[in-house]
Amino acid sequence: MLEPAELVLASQEYLFPAVFHYYREPLIISRAKDQFVYDAEGRPYLDFFGGILTISVGHCNTKVNAAVHRQLDTLQHVSTVFVTQPQAALAKKIASLTPGGALTKSFFTNSGTEANETGILAARCYTGSSEIIALRHSYHGRSAMAMALTGQAAWRMGGAIQPGIVHAHNAYCYRCPFGLTYPSCDIRCARDVEDVIRTATSGRIAGFIAEPIQGVGGFITPPKEYFSIVAEIIRNAGGIFISDEVQTAWGRTGNKWFGIEHYGVTPDVITSAKGLGNGLPIGVTVAKPEVADGMRGLSISTFGGNPITTTAAKAVLDLIEEENLLANAAETGAYLRGKLEELRDKHAVIGDVRGMGLMQALELVEDRETKAPAPRATAELMEAARRHGILIGKGGTYGNCIRISPPLNISKADVDEFARLLDQSLTAL
Ligand SMILES: Cc1ncc(COP(=O)(O)O)c(C=O)c1O
Repeated sequence: MLEPAELVLASQEYLFPAVFHYYREPLIISRAKDQFVYDAEGRPYLDFFGGILTISVGHCNTKVNAAVHRQLDTLQHVSTVFVTQPQAALAKKIASLTPGGALTKSFFTNSGTEANETGILAARCYTGSSEIIALRHSYHGRSAMAMALTGQAAWRMGGAIQPGIVHAHNAYCYRCPFGLTYPSCDIRCARDVEDVIRTATSGRIAGFIAEPIQGVGGFITPPKEYFSIVAEIIRNAGGIFISDEVQTAWGRTGNKWFGIEHYGVTPDVITSAKGLGNGLPIGVTVAKPEVADGMRGLSISTFGGNPITTTAAKAVLDLIEEENLLANAAETGAYLRGKLEELRDKHAVIGDVRGMGLMQALELVEDRETKAPAPRATAELMEAARRHGILIGKGGTYGNCIRISPPLNISKADVDEFARLLDQSLTAL
């Protein structure tokens, strides 16, 4: 076992520098249970980031882990060239949860990046076109193609060269790319997608990929009309709609299984990962059957559909249902939102509060009039929050957003404690 100081040094010496850490002094996490993580000295932190929106039902959840332990000693791996109970059971369960039950066929992988690779491949195979519309300020993963889909320079290392991907403006109401105000804007950003197709593509596209709420972008939440307008434009140009729900799925946004359901649109493909496995690596691309069937030919993911990860995911979904966590995400999410709005009224550095359910963000600004981004204050708030014993996430193209995403089974008492400590952290800036 390495001592704490050696651990940090070893990480710096033996990991790629691209594996960056939060905080001036890296935080070493030794163990976790439910809503708490513990550092190397045993100090607890109330975790309101959940390993980047991945801990959906609490750290080391007792029920999920019991199912995983049983499966670990029963069948660990055979690959997808054989039929297994866990993969089939999870695929059937997911099909029953998709909007209108319309997306019924799953392809399992190990990450959100791979889920998106599969979604884009399916769009291209199904439509016979190759061009894709993505959005500015988006994040879709770390493979060469996923970086090219991504709309933030910081996450497009190496140049991200991929012909056939163009970026439309996003629905960033706090910083409207057209300088307009909702609702008098008539959702200009959505209508502009038609112009993007007309001017930056061949006119026949494979699809459109978007996050219902842009996660890494700082929980940028489009107005309710946005996706239905865009979906119609996309379909008129022959494309399909891929909803990247790596962050927004499995109840995170409250009352619904998928973020896109708040917009009354049924996508053709949903991609997801993160919260599905509560920390075990699983990605899924779930599609309408005709789209899935369009992917003719062979494709394999050695670990995709692995018995351990699919067992964990099925246990997570069952638990979300049994404990009615979709409702808790809505109710406790609204409670959290109220607390954050109170903090906005008290601290001038908070320019915007946004999100849905238990996916809420603060955008920090130097000045509420100019809306100049405040990345330094954001970094300082991260440090202060750590000192006060709470974990929050950073995000935003300008490095000035705080992301808040506790487990879906968080209580109002935990939210009270979190808000109290966040208030103290803001006061300490
Ligand atoms: C919306 C979205 N899509 C895709 C990804 C990539 O997922 P992964 O890191 O599991 O490859 C992420 C990761 O943060 C994400 O937030």
